[in-house]
Amino acid sequence: MQTRKTQVAIIGAGPSGLLLGLLLDKQGIDNVILERVTGDYVLGRIRAGVLEQGFAKLVREAGAAENMDTLGEVHDSVMFSFNDEEVMLNLKELTDDSVIVYGQVDITRDMMAEREKRGLETVYEANDVQPHDVKSDNPYITYEKDGFEYRLECDYIAGCDGFHGVSRQTIPDDVKTEYEKVYPFGWLGLMSDTKPINPELIYATTDRGFALASMRSQTRSRYYIQVPLEDTVEDWSDDKFWAEFKKRMPAGVRDNLITGPSIEKSIVPTRSFICEPLQYGNLFLVGDAGHIVPPTGAKGLNLAASDVSTLYKIMTRVYKEGDKTCIEQYSPIALRRIWNGVRFSWWLTDLLHDFGDQKDEFDKKMETSEIQYFLSSEEGRKVIAEQYVGLAFEDLK
Ligand code: APR
Ligand code: PHB
Repeated sequence: MQTRKTQVAIIGAGPSGLLLGLLLDKQGIDNVILERVTGDYVLGRIRAGVLEQGFAKLVREAGAAENMDTLGEVHDSVMFSFNDEEVMLNLKELTDDSVIVYGQVDITRDMMAEREKRGLETVYEANDVQPHDVKSDNPYITYEKDGFEYRLECDYIAGCDGFHGVSRQTIPDDVKTEYEKVYPFGWLGLMSDTKPINPELIYATTDRGFALASMRSQTRSRYYIQVPLEDTVEDWSDDKFWAEFKKRMPAGVRDNLITGPSIEKSIVPTRSFICEPLQYGNLFLVGDAGHIVPPTGAKGLNLAASDVSTLYKIMTRVYKEGDKTCIEQYSPIALRRIWNGVRFSWWLTDLLHDFGDQKDEFDKKMETSEIQYFLSSEEGRKVIAEQYVGLAFEDLK
């Protein structure tokens, strides 16, 4: 077995691991990323496309923001519609903030390129990655690559390995508590090289179910419709998708729809999930490794950035000031913001989707009344807007 050493070992080369690695490098903190699949496979995962300014600031600090700031679109407003009633949320007026529409795959590609340009090590196709002695001051990771066994010694392990990763499994069952809610529907997403139906994103709730009109650019649209859990992509031809999506768009924009062949079509299940704590000794769970949200609030990547922000501050204090006591702050700080993001995503999902026979007619009337109450008053719109653009990241004590 070949033994190597680094300061922070990162498991996973998704957005969490890549952003953390670039930021640590900015502080001169040595890090190695161990990734199970190839870089092309990572980039083949279609994901969301709304970035909070807090995330964008971290990407700028990480030195990977050139394309995001050049090609990304700043959105000051977002539309909600109820059948044919349209309500525009002016984020800029309500919060003096905005969001950036730029594909998560694109930002991942940009961070990968920056990492490679700086000569930072990412071990792709690392097999059987296993954390060890995470409660000790000398944790290490074993893995196999090209038939050779390796031992990566480190000070800390950042588990950025997503929902199906190994890191969360390293925390003993009698130490962790997992909270989960699985929703009775999925999101069928379609990507097409067509002009978006509307300049702003549209979150549409109708008697037929939920739909979202998003985009990647002015020539590439990203659309979703809520579908039953038992549906498969094969059940949905492009024509069937376009017909249903058009019916769920409000009348004021419906005729602007330009259809075209799908360049990607997939169904994502929807769930809320949180693991507590997010830290076990010198192992930290970051991003999807510790929590999952339904895509309704566009919070997945942005909550990962929130974790990265906290762990980055902690690692900087540890290595720059020699203060190791602050590592205990990670989980409490990260969880405060995550629970808020999970609640917002759950609340918006609950209000905008058709839960079928899981809700009776009274429940549906309560939903309609609640979302219309929030959207009919400036105070109510502010509540939604400030969470949509993202709350501030918390500082260390
Ligand atoms: N060993 C090494 N790498 C692993 C292992 C393992 N045992 N298990 C998983 N991985 C890798 C995956 O291949 C993936 O590339 O960890 C990475 C985790 O990336 P993501 O799942 O994208 O999670 P994260 O980086 O936290 O990004 C969160 O991306 O997935 C979306 O919706 C999610 O928007 C959210 C954001
Ligand atoms: C997307 O563009 O993929 C997207 C945008 C907003 C969401 C979810 C997904 O809430």
